[in-house]
Amino acid sequence: MRIEVPREAERLGAMLFYGVQRVYELDAGLVRGEADAVGQIIRPVAFEAMEAVCASMAIVVPVRGERIKLLEGVLAGIPHGCLVIVVSNSDRAPIDRFTLELNAVLTYRRFTGKHVVVVHQRDPAIARGLQAGGYPELIDDAGLVREGKAEGMLVATLLAALAGKRYIGFIDSDNYFPGAVHEYVREYAAGLLARRSDYAMVRINWHSKPKIVRDALFFAKFGRATVVTNRFLNALIAYYTGFETEVVRTGNAGEHAMTLELALKLSNASGYAVETRHFLDLLERFGSILENPTQDVLDQYVEVFQIESRNPHMHDISKGDRHIGAMVLASLAVIHASPICPAELREELVAELRRRRLLGKDEAPPVPTLYPPLERVSLAALAEAIADEPFAAALRS
Ligand code: GDD
Ligand code: MG
Repeated sequence: MRIEVPREAERLGAMLFYGVQRVYELDAGLVRGEADAVGQIIRPVAFEAMEAVCASMAIVVPVRGERIKLLEGVLAGIPHGCLVIVVSNSDRAPIDRFTLELNAVLTYRRFTGKHVVVVHQRDPAIARGLQAGGYPELIDDAGLVREGKAEGMLVATLLAALAGKRYIGFIDSDNYFPGAVHEYVREYAAGLLARRSDYAMVRINWHSKPKIVRDALFFAKFGRATVVTNRFLNALIAYYTGFETEVVRTGNAGEHAMTLELALKLSNASGYAVETRHFLDLLERFGSILENPTQDVLDQYVEVFQIESRNPHMHDISKGDRHIGAMVLASLAVIHASPICPAELREELVAELRRRRLLGKDEAPPVPTLYPPLERVSLAALAEAIADEPFAAALRS
């Protein structure tokens, strides 16, 4: 891969947000040594170096009722060296869709030898493990892990930690292009290789999203939920730096990766606000706006990379636009709820939500559910509680 180094950065306290980096070659051929790269603004990344990151990375694939063919395509796109954790919340009845997924993945695993682990987030064993590990917040009244993509991501993050992985990345299971999936994981690796801190995150800014407009293909550049989220996140940063900025381009990036050290330190929002909440959490805790974080983070800082992919992003659009509004509401609600959101930005947020008819005239944005950082979970107690489960054995194999 040949990739641009970040040209701009916004700095706030111990936070470093890099501007979007473009990819010039998906495959840069054989790369020998680093010497020729010094001082260049476009640098080659050696295949072997990316492979080394993949060997330490778990790729989490959240799935809820997707077509098996899509899931298989996603698995085909993930580089062989990664551990894949498929975390499902698919129905068990009247048709047991989860067992269909499990069987498809086991067959795939047999054919390829790829290390893939499948788990249902509402498996009672997971809830038992979380209780034992001291993290009951994720458990609902039925005694099982709560529904939702973010909740599945948290479970998978803990499994990645148990597997001893250094990095974790997320890829949605409804992606139509295995080539795009492959590219995203390579970009995670390229970004993580460029980090200087133990606390680093890479977010994918997809190149375009193909749509049919007036019987022709149209390559939309800006996601409708993302543009709104980005605008308010940038306004928030500008409020504290005093300089207007467009640095944030990935406010809703479902495709992202980070070091496990960082993943365990972040607090998370439920549902589709999880990615937006990451920004708020980073700013609240490491932006030197509120009371400050642990010294080791301050010593190193937190880096956020944003990489623009080359493949178009094509996911299952049959779900329609019904949840664009819900996504905007959830994302803006986490910004609104943050203690660092200034009063004037809150007013603008509420006006935007009313203009979009996502809020009634006298209604306030919903208060988001936040989960505390996973670092408080006792991994030893969790491991012991789930030791006899097939997915736990699969993690080790
Ligand atoms: N484990 C699990 N549990 N997975 C789920 C759940 C759940 O309760 N709900 C949805 N998923 C899976 C879906 O199967 C899909 O692979 C992925 O999570 C994303 O869900 P979509 O329903 O496809 O979301 P989207 O494409 O509309 O939303 C996009 O933007 C969101 C935020 O702005 C995606 O990029 C999301 O990942 C992102 O959070
Ligand atoms: Mg989707």
